[in-house]
Amino acid sequence: MSFARASIGLIALAASVSASIKTCSNNNTLSCHSSSKAGTCCYNYPGGALLQTQFWDTDPVSGPTDSWTIHGLWPDNCDGTYESNCDESRAYTNITEILKAQDRTDLLSYMEDYWVDINGDSESFWEHEWGKHGTCVNTIKPSCYSNYSPQEEVGDFFQKTVDLFKGLDTYKALSDAGITPDESKTYTLSEIHGKLNQAWYFFNVRGNAITGKYQAADTLTKASCPSSGIKYVPKSN
Ligand SMILES: *[C@@H]1O[C@H](CO)[C@@H](O)[C@H](O)[C@H]1NC(C)=O
Ligand SMILES: *[C@@H]1O[C@H](CO)[C@@H](O)[C@H](O)[C@H]1NC(C)=O
Repeated sequence: MSFARASIGLIALAASVSASIKTCSNNNTLSCHSSSKAGTCCYNYPGGALLQTQFWDTDPVSGPTDSWTIHGLWPDNCDGTYESNCDESRAYTNITEILKAQDRTDLLSYMEDYWVDINGDSESFWEHEWGKHGTCVNTIKPSCYSNYSPQEEVGDFFQKTVDLFKGLDTYKALSDAGITPDESKTYTLSEIHGKLNQAWYFFNVRGNAITGKYQAADTLTKASCPSSGIKYVPKSN
């Protein structure tokens, strides 16, 4: 009995790490830090900065009351500008079906809790995020895969975004710093760095966006944030 369960676990694990992204011989060049003006499967360009963006939605409330939620993973041209809607032919309108067909049911159920649309239409939100931003990640083009099976990169994109999010627990980081949601309290900018209904985490990458190493980078945007009086209100109705 327990042996059978262990076997099933191993099969699931094998399926989730079976990425067929081509191996990079140079996976050490940090994106946004080379004079190279060409993208390869091992170098993110022009979108060399990858931002993992998050929401704190209180009106209406979305997601768990003790967690921020995922907005997306956005390539940025290392300067605050970005490309969008890069490949109409891969702007899929069946993200849920694609993830199911790839047996990514754990991923899907995590997304249903943590990657939620403020109006309750998460499928449309995921389609928007994939079509607008995901199709612009040059290192996950179909040609970057060996034995490519259609829409493989879609599953990789959503999985990578979720994996990054899991390592960026904004609620806990703020709470550890004594900053918790409160109806009436206000905080100053020096207490809270960032705008408190969204958090944007900037990365550069060595190698491919799925298999490469992410390195934290400085922000590329000027936060339009007041210096004091910042509210972080609870998620409650
Ligand atoms: C990274 O580069 C090393 C050295 O060329 C190579 O052995 C390794 O397989 C590469 N890793 C990936 C994920 O491409
Ligand atoms: C998703 O849509 C694409 C484009 O229409 C189609 O080729 C693919 O078979 C669909 N995938 C699933 C799992 O339904």
